[in-house]
Amino acid sequence: MSNPWEKLPPDFYLRDTVEVAKDLIGRYLIREVPGGRLACRITETEAYCGPADPACHSCRKAAKKGGRTNVMYEAGGLAYIYLIYGMHCCFNVVTRPKGEPEAVLVAYASIHGNTARAALELTEMLKAEGVKAAACDLTREDWAEAVAGAFRYSGLVLAAASYDAGVFPPMAQLLARLKSKGFRDRSVGLMENGSWGPTAMKTMMAELEGMKGLNILEPKITIRSVLTEENRVEMKLLARTMAQSI
Ligand SMILES: Cc1cc2nc3c(=O)[nH]c(=O)nc-3n(C[C@H](O)[C@H](O)[C@H](O)COP(=O)(O)O)c2cc1C
Repeated sequence: MSNPWEKLPPDFYLRDTVEVAKDLIGRYLIREVPGGRLACRITETEAYCGPADPACHSCRKAAKKGGRTNVMYEAGGLAYIYLIYGMHCCFNVVTRPKGEPEAVLVAYASIHGNTARAALELTEMLKAEGVKAAACDLTREDWAEAVAGAFRYSGLVLAAASYDAGVFPPMAQLLARLKSKGFRDRSVGLMENGSWGPTAMKTMMAELEGMKGLNILEPKITIRSVLTEENRVEMKLLARTMAQSI
């Protein structure tokens, strides 16, 4: 997966509105606030495709050029925010070149995503150690790819959030599939996330115990919701241990 934290270039927004809406999924919306940053992962978007689209605010029936929709006529990349029902602020990103009033509504975003971020950072740390590494997001990518990848590489790092006193269900499914296909004889690193009582590590370890010849690497990493500098130090160590073990 590409790095969803990277700042998008201005021309990203000048493209076809439906394409922009699709490509915004999985990206992060980041707001600088006093004392830090608030980040949420975009999980649902809606494309509003100009005057010909009856649902779009720039449609002649809904609004004439002027007033709050002015910003939609600017070049893509600006925010168009409006209030609905007197209480919800809807955040849109303007798309297309100047004069083409289209936009993408960010319909849903989740504050979660720290485990995915840790996985991406670890991938870079592994590459810095000279390891050929790739990340796979079980919530978004092809399952067959994840299983094939686990068999193709000599090492595997599992990173998962705790979920209802167990592990995030897609990870439990991946482990069940690896077990049924005889996954064995590999180096395995583990990262868990949990806000109030992390349980993912224990659950993943229980599944791995049934597989033969696995070299479970240290350190095993526990993230408490948000990735800390201590976590990053441990992740660098894990990347080094992985590089030495394969
Ligand atoms: C449905 C649900 C169940 C969860 N169960 C647990 C749990 O049993 N123990 C725990 O420590 N955290 C639990 N969490 C919190 C997540 O593990 C935690 O928020 C984690 O940071 C999510 O990872 P993310 O930032 O990668 O999305 C749960 C979260 C959700 C949404």
